Amino acid sequence: MRVRGKPWWLFAAGNLTGAAVAAALFLVGPLAGPPELEPGELVILSGQDDSTGGQRQQLINLWNDSHPRNRARIVSVPQAADGQWIEMASRAEDGDTDIFNLDVAWTAYFADPPSGRRLIRPIDESLLAEEPGRAFMAKPLETCRYAGKLWGLPFNTDAGLLYYRTDQGLKPPFDWAAIERGAGRAGFEAAYTGQLAGYEGLTVNTLEAVWAAGGRLDVAADGRVTLDLDRWDEAMRRLTPRRTGPPVVLPRSTTFDETGSRGAFQDGRVLFMRNWPVAYRAMTAGDEPGPARPPVKFSVAKLPGPSVLGGQNLAISERTRKPRAAQALIEFLTNDQSQRALFDPGGFAATRAAVYEDETIKQKYPYASLLREAVDTARLRPVSPNYVAFSKRLHQLVSEVLTGRQKQLPRDLADRLTQALRGR
Ligand code: GLC
Repeated sequence: MRVRGKPWWLFAAGNLTGAAVAAALFLVGPLAGPPELEPGELVILSGQDDSTGGQRQQLINLWNDSHPRNRARIVSVPQAADGQWIEMASRAEDGDTDIFNLDVAWTAYFADPPSGRRLIRPIDESLLAEEPGRAFMAKPLETCRYAGKLWGLPFNTDAGLLYYRTDQGLKPPFDWAAIERGAGRAGFEAAYTGQLAGYEGLTVNTLEAVWAAGGRLDVAADGRVTLDLDRWDEAMRRLTPRRTGPPVVLPRSTTFDETGSRGAFQDGRVLFMRNWPVAYRAMTAGDEPGPARPPVKFSVAKLPGPSVLGGQNLAISERTRKPRAAQALIEFLTNDQSQRALFDPGGFAATRAAVYEDETIKQKYPYASLLREAVDTARLRPVSPNYVAFSKRLHQLVSEVLTGRQKQLPRDLADRLTQALRGR
């Protein structure tokens, strides 16, 4: 036991009587270190762990070794973002979950859902061992804040990178014109692939293409969207697989998520790929199930424009009966040591700058500084409890264009997106 940082026997060794010691302990009790963690198992609802070597589970094993009263267990939901959303939103009310591993775009919904009953509770900042603003990188931390409160701690961050073949005489940096010049290269089906199936990944790829084309998406506090349609048209022109001439974009990309596009790049079908940092380690670790692929020679560069900021945040369920234990586990999973393990060997982008500044890490992973810069310059998706509805409307309209069902985006795109953000 410790009282205000001193072992109890130092107190007892003074002139105090036993009763006085008891009274003193009673009085200072509430100040005597962190309050007890409520006992019991902790359940984390999370997307599938696609880190190399299953680092999330490794961290849970470490926690379990030292916390037998609060053993933790990960319940996995489907890998792609949209599947995760459906599962998590529907299980949020049932009380079986203590911690949610939420996509950064969902904080506002879980904090302030249309039902009016919040699904997560704010982090108790008075209990944190470190000041979050000092511990974490600014961008990932920003996605944890909503309406003036801190709703989670950043588990891993994410920023898109441009993967390119290093055995084809390509030299970074690459703008979109440089990617287009890759069309028709002998031995390749197309120049480029990304995540262009109809799901959250397409919203991400669309926003990045719009920004790379000099376009914008502005959302006012009342949900009113303004955008420059001619730049959005240009982004659509770039992403739509051509039906004549050598393809820039691999036509099958409109069916690809992260894994599908990585497969096309690894199979040597394209010169360039947009993907998240985990793809890097997945392509070098060689621990994937199934038949081994011959390795492709690749490196990473900056995207032609800013990336969307991705990642996952750990948040405490409103319905948990163990909020302090849940918060202690969240602090453990986001601490310095855990963040290192998630990046090395896991391949997840760490949420603490210290990891990228570490000399050993820099030497082992020369792309670490590029990744850090991609995170620091990434842009958030619109922050709104209606974000998922907004994103769905957006990627459905974009899909129609990419798959040739529509010639162009609707001219009232801004109004349609405004309605989605306003919950209509
Ligand atoms: C990654 C990102 C996440 C994003 C998703 C889209 O998991 O971390 O933020 O929504 O990809 O597919």
